[in-house]
Amino acid sequence: MTNTVNRQIQLSARPANYPKESDFDLVESPVSEPGEGEVLVKVIWLSLDPYQRGRMRASHPYATPMELGQVIVGGVVGKIVQSRTPAFTVGEVVEGPLGWQEFAVSDGNNLRRVDAGLGPLSTALGILGMPGMTAYFGLLEIGQPRPGDTVVVSAASGAVGQVVGQISKIMGCRTVGIAGTAEKVEYLKSGLGFDAGINYKTENVDAALTKVCPLGVDVYFDNVGGVITDAVFDHLNVGARISICGSISQYNQDEPEPGPRKMGLLVGKQARAQGFLVGQFRNQHEEGRQRIAGWIKEGRIKYREDVVEGLENAPGAFIGLMRGENFGKLLVKISEE
Ligand SMILES: NC(=O)c1ccc[n+]([C@@H]2O[C@H](COP(=O)([O-])OP(=O)(O)OC[C@H]3O[C@@H](n4cnc5c(N)ncnc54)[C@H](OP(=O)(O)O)[C@@H]3O)[C@@H](O)[C@H]2O)c1
Repeated sequence: MTNTVNRQIQLSARPANYPKESDFDLVESPVSEPGEGEVLVKVIWLSLDPYQRGRMRASHPYATPMELGQVIVGGVVGKIVQSRTPAFTVGEVVEGPLGWQEFAVSDGNNLRRVDAGLGPLSTALGILGMPGMTAYFGLLEIGQPRPGDTVVVSAASGAVGQVVGQISKIMGCRTVGIAGTAEKVEYLKSGLGFDAGINYKTENVDAALTKVCPLGVDVYFDNVGGVITDAVFDHLNVGARISICGSISQYNQDEPEPGPRKMGLLVGKQARAQGFLVGQFRNQHEEGRQRIAGWIKEGRIKYREDVVEGLENAPGAFIGLMRGENFGKLLVKISEE
């Protein structure tokens, strides 16, 4: 271990509305020594995810908020460079919530060995990691699609949405994605095999849904909330299922929009809207991971990653994520594999 300096990105201020560079600090400190029973991990990949915005708030409905001066929480993939436990050996690649930093000490309880045979290491944070599991269980367990159903997914070109749409196609469903640029919508259709796409920034979503979902919507995988969700609710079929995954349209509002505004429509449609957390399926993640890896190997699922280089660029990339500038799963590469 030749490095002696650890660089971290810490939260320096709680963002007001959209985060900005001055909400983050790049701080240097000595690399910590692992104690008895611990390992030192050299981080290779950082995962940038919308939930991190919620953890920057002073209070959170179900998770612990970050403190000012704390390293930004987040999943990483890295390599064990020192081990003082028989549970891990030097050179093993692991995934875990070690935060935005170059080196981290862990007791190993929160680390998962990455199976490099399943795919590139970065996929352990994307399609074969938390976002992929979110898509798999959020669609299949909560959305319960049936062949012939129409499935609509919002934030469709992102880490979760791109996987939702492709699993929906495998399940034999008509699949419609909603995204924020023409390039993203074109990719959904010609790159990933979606049946139709809607650009919510340039199209009237309600009118577009009438056109591309002539038989109505049976499953809505909701990543965004707000006005897009309102528009989809007007197209639900009797017995529709809404898988409430996230509401990114509200994450940067200091005062969230009032809502849910069209919940009453679920009465007549005898529809079910159900929130979920990827962690509630943790005992089944391995099964989901193997199944998605199989689909990738068979060429039935593709994935797109958006890679930014350098720890110092993580805040800027995260700010971009909140504004839809990422195209696919957003990752920061901070050291060589
Ligand atoms: N329930 C769970 O356990 C769980 C787990 C993981 C993720 N999630 C949620 O899943 C959702 C997607 O996460 P992800 O990791 O896949 O992110 P992502 O889609 O890769 O990135 C976020 C995307 O959201 C879109 N967006 C941003 N602001 C928006 C707005 N105001 N209205 C509509 N779309 C907006 C942008 O795409 P466009 O260009 O299309 O606008 C942006 O690229 C988030 O809500 C996240 O919190 C939930």
